Amino acid sequence: MENFNFYVPTTVHFGKGQIENLAASVKQFGGSKVMLAYGGGSIKKNGIYDAVTNELKKADIPFVNCDGIKPNPPVADVRKGIKIYRENACDFILAVGGGSTIDAAKAMAAGVCYHGDVMDLMADGKGEIKEAAPLASVLTMAGTGSELDMGGVITGEKTHKKHTIMHPFLYPKFSILDPAYTFSVPEKHSMAGCFDAFDHLMECYFVAGSETTDVQNMMNEGVMRSIVKNAPLLLENPENYDARANIMWASSMALAGFQFIAGKKGSNWPMHAMGHELSSLYDMTHGITLALIAPAYLEFTLEKAPEYTWLFANFARNVFGVSEANNELVAKKGIEKVKEFTLTLKMPKNLKEAGVEKDKLEYLAEKATEWGNIGAICKMEKAEALEIYRRAFE
Ligand code: NZQ
Ligand code: ZN
Repeated sequence: MENFNFYVPTTVHFGKGQIENLAASVKQFGGSKVMLAYGGGSIKKNGIYDAVTNELKKADIPFVNCDGIKPNPPVADVRKGIKIYRENACDFILAVGGGSTIDAAKAMAAGVCYHGDVMDLMADGKGEIKEAAPLASVLTMAGTGSELDMGGVITGEKTHKKHTIMHPFLYPKFSILDPAYTFSVPEKHSMAGCFDAFDHLMECYFVAGSETTDVQNMMNEGVMRSIVKNAPLLLENPENYDARANIMWASSMALAGFQFIAGKKGSNWPMHAMGHELSSLYDMTHGITLALIAPAYLEFTLEKAPEYTWLFANFARNVFGVSEANNELVAKKGIEKVKEFTLTLKMPKNLKEAGVEKDKLEYLAEKATEWGNIGAICKMEKAEALEIYRRAFE
């Protein structure tokens, strides 16, 4: 196993009514004037805005709103938040929403402590995060794991490229996870969130170095299995509290401290890199892009790296319960199961059905690999990415 550092400083308040911890937690982390960051208004309809602001008012904590953060958050929304925070002399950021809101809040937290443009602080930028404002989250949608990790994804303005911002200072100080808050998430986003979490687990599972990481692999398989079990229950009944709770906790666990990729040889998250380009070009929902890419990616990877057939076979047996004896056959059946799972979640069948134009595939492959090889267990440059987009097309 490779060396690794493991660090997750976020306090989680999980369950019904945990919003009652909000005000004390804000004060515990030094918040005396809060900027409330949220999205397009769903929290005003489902009562979460009132629940949050009532807690702040009861504790005499003043707050200002930073609303309108869009999905696949554009940097303009981040800049707006930085301005509001500074103009109102806030000292704490509370993100109330899904991954887009929390990610934007993370970039704001870094941006308010930096004198240049916030884009400098992205992973590929020229700046450095030396400080960040304290931030916390009230999660309203499960999937990304942003509530328990130190990363965020922000859409740049020129080519709409998605950039990563990442630093230990960007872990939320605390996250309030009330599964009942996710009852109102529309089916499409609930299912996309389930697949996003499942895909995070696969990105951490199909990675070179997995030969030696038994704990990571086996815990990961268990979390994947819980998603395969609970996602269809949500589809049947969006107000199934325990299914919501399991999906929420599985999503958080998937990326908590990047625990399931720890000790492996590292990865550039190939399915995410390819999916992000679909979001950039078509503003497509993140989890849907992954469902479109994953089966073709896995099929291609198994062909190119047959030495990892054992890993694909373990996945098929331990996540989907495939019971054949022959490893090669089982490995392929596991990939078929992933495809079936995407259809169970009502994801589009292929890129064509999702509205992608065939003549854009080359551009997508070019952009997905513009910073180099994105492979996790086999080389993944432009030609390989193009082959995967083609297989995913129809
Ligand atoms: O805009 P609002 O009103 O918040 O509505 C949202 C949005 O329309 C709605 N929604 C959220 N909670 C709701 C609700 N509607 C009704 N009731 C509720 N309780 O759902 C829609 C989607 O929300 P969004 O935050 O965009 O979804 P998600 O959580 O999937 O976040 C996606 C973003 O996260 C990034 C993605 O790239 C994408 O930009 N990711 C962040 C990661 C991270 N920080 O570690 C990792 C992921 O791989 C991912 O890349
Ligand atoms: Zn994701």
